[in-house]
Amino acid sequence: MSKITTAKLKKMKLDKTPIAMITAYDYPSAKLAEQAGADILLVGDSLGNVVLGYDSTIPVTVEDMIYHSRVVARAVERCFIVTDMPFLTYHGSSDAALQQVARIMQEGHAHSVKMEGGAEIAANVQAITRAGVPVMGHLGLTPQSVHQIGGFKVQGRELQQAQKLIEDAKALEEAGVYAIVLELVTEELAKRVSESVSVPTIGIGSGRYCDGQVLVYHDVIQYAPDYRPKKFVKTYANVEKMIREGIAEYVREVKEGKFPDESHVFPMNAELIPHLYG
Ligand code: KIV
Ligand code: NA
Repeated sequence: MSKITTAKLKKMKLDKTPIAMITAYDYPSAKLAEQAGADILLVGDSLGNVVLGYDSTIPVTVEDMIYHSRVVARAVERCFIVTDMPFLTYHGSSDAALQQVARIMQEGHAHSVKMEGGAEIAANVQAITRAGVPVMGHLGLTPQSVHQIGGFKVQGRELQQAQKLIEDAKALEEAGVYAIVLELVTEELAKRVSESVSVPTIGIGSGRYCDGQVLVYHDVIQYAPDYRPKKFVKTYANVEKMIREGIAEYVREVKEGKFPDESHVFPMNAELIPHLYG
């Protein structure tokens, strides 16, 4: 079982071997995703929505990311781990950004970090890659900017916006990223970007021509109490239903006195039992 590295990911693009990435936020999810053959585990700040109950990724802190990242790292042997830099932790001076990256790498035990944005963050991306930390870019719909973008809209429908995204991808490549996530980008633009840069593109809602795909763990297996279908997601299991039905049956059996039964109990030596009653 050989570890995934940035060099291997680049070779996968050359060989046209699709890269499979999925989010993971805790020990069992990371273990299961690795056992299922995923290449990259993303400790995404989507954990804010998915497991912390926030309505965006904006409240997620460096401490939150460190906590979840180190738990995932404990589970993993082969997968490459990328951990999201949270909201506004990489936009100031490159020194300030490097300090936050150092915490994610040293305390969070990540193998790399991911940042949202293009040319405007390229200088900091370059400082971080020069310091020896692999950076994954993230373009298109960037959820940390949701209030500026004005919602979860498909990106790259207009030519000007599409051309800017291609320029941003090139700026990130030049700054040294090892891969770029393309989120909610039109399929044709994602294809063009994938042809324009030498590093792998990893799409979510961005069509069939990216070098890899990423989805949120809980979307893949439909694991959320209020799951809402999304056009770009395919669900491969319905864990929500299994969990709800499983727990409902447990509750029912407790209420009806059916659990535990004889098979679940630890008996005492029969000779000692009378002494329990004096
Ligand atoms: O946080 C996340 O899950 C992400 C993916 C949607 C790419 O950034
Ligand atoms: Na994210």
